[in-house]
Amino acid sequence: MIGADLPLVGKLALVTGASRGIGLAVAEELRAAGAHVVRLARSLTAGTAERQTDLPCDVADAHQVDDAVRRVLTERGVPDIVVNSAGTFFLKPVDQTTTADFSQSIAVNLTAAFLVARAVIPHLRTRRAGHLVTIGSLADHVALPGNAAYAAAKFGVRGIHEVIAVELAGTGVRTTLVSPGPVDTEMWDPIDPDNQPGFTRRQDMLRAEDVAEAVLFAVTRPPRAVVTEIRLMPSRR
Ligand SMILES: NC(=O)c1ccc[n+]([C@@H]2O[C@H](COP(=O)([O-])OP(=O)(O)OC[C@H]3O[C@@H](n4cnc5c(N)ncnc54)[C@H](OP(=O)(O)O)[C@@H]3O)[C@@H](O)[C@H]2O)c1
Repeated sequence: MIGADLPLVGKLALVTGASRGIGLAVAEELRAAGAHVVRLARSLTAGTAERQTDLPCDVADAHQVDDAVRRVLTERGVPDIVVNSAGTFFLKPVDQTTTADFSQSIAVNLTAAFLVARAVIPHLRTRRAGHLVTIGSLADHVALPGNAAYAAAKFGVRGIHEVIAVELAGTGVRTTLVSPGPVDTEMWDPIDPDNQPGFTRRQDMLRAEDVAEAVLFAVTRPPRAVVTEIRLMPSRR
């Protein structure tokens, strides 16, 4: 029996990229706050545990996103909280970025957020309640070397977030962009920032839980308040 005083008891959350890193931490934070959490990621195995449903899904694939959202709507209802966290990251100067690199970054970091938003928004708008959270990045507002493909996607995510906020103004549906600086997740493994000059050392990075707590803060404000954006940085860089 979970405590009735938990802020998200009876709420349904959908989190993409929830197999590891920030998405996993967000899923666990929302679940610990009482929500039933549907986790989407390619490597998850379909199944249900206590207040948790896992659906394997490539969120860059429109058909898979539509199928997953339809299944959630049919089996569990309209989500109260939707968090887009799936993402991919690499560093390459623009003139060394292949067309395939660029397309992949756009597909996972940008198109996926559009596909998920498009699938859920009609249902949130009809119900006149819900919260769409997008995990952006420092790279959604600051130019960093090697970030051409990532920044193109993340600046784009910021653009979609702001347009959706305008389109849904006054409907009761809230939107939040959470833009963290470096977070110590597996995303950094191929880059090895501790041995690269100019990079934040992993021990000084944010933790995935810091981002998850920011998401929980945003989605637990009273309905009269919307946290439009949270920028979160390591205090030591
Ligand atoms: N780490 C940082 O420093 C940092 C900073 C700012 C913002 N962010 C953003 O935070 C988000 C999460 O990053 P992270 O650090 O947690 O990365 P991560 O540890 O590498 O995790 C990435 C997650 O995205 C999922 N994913 C990747 N491609 C997918 C696809 N096509 N379909 C479905 N799921 C997919 C992965 O699951 P599967 O492999 O199982 O599909 C995994 O769960 C990203 O949007 C990233 O841009 C990260």
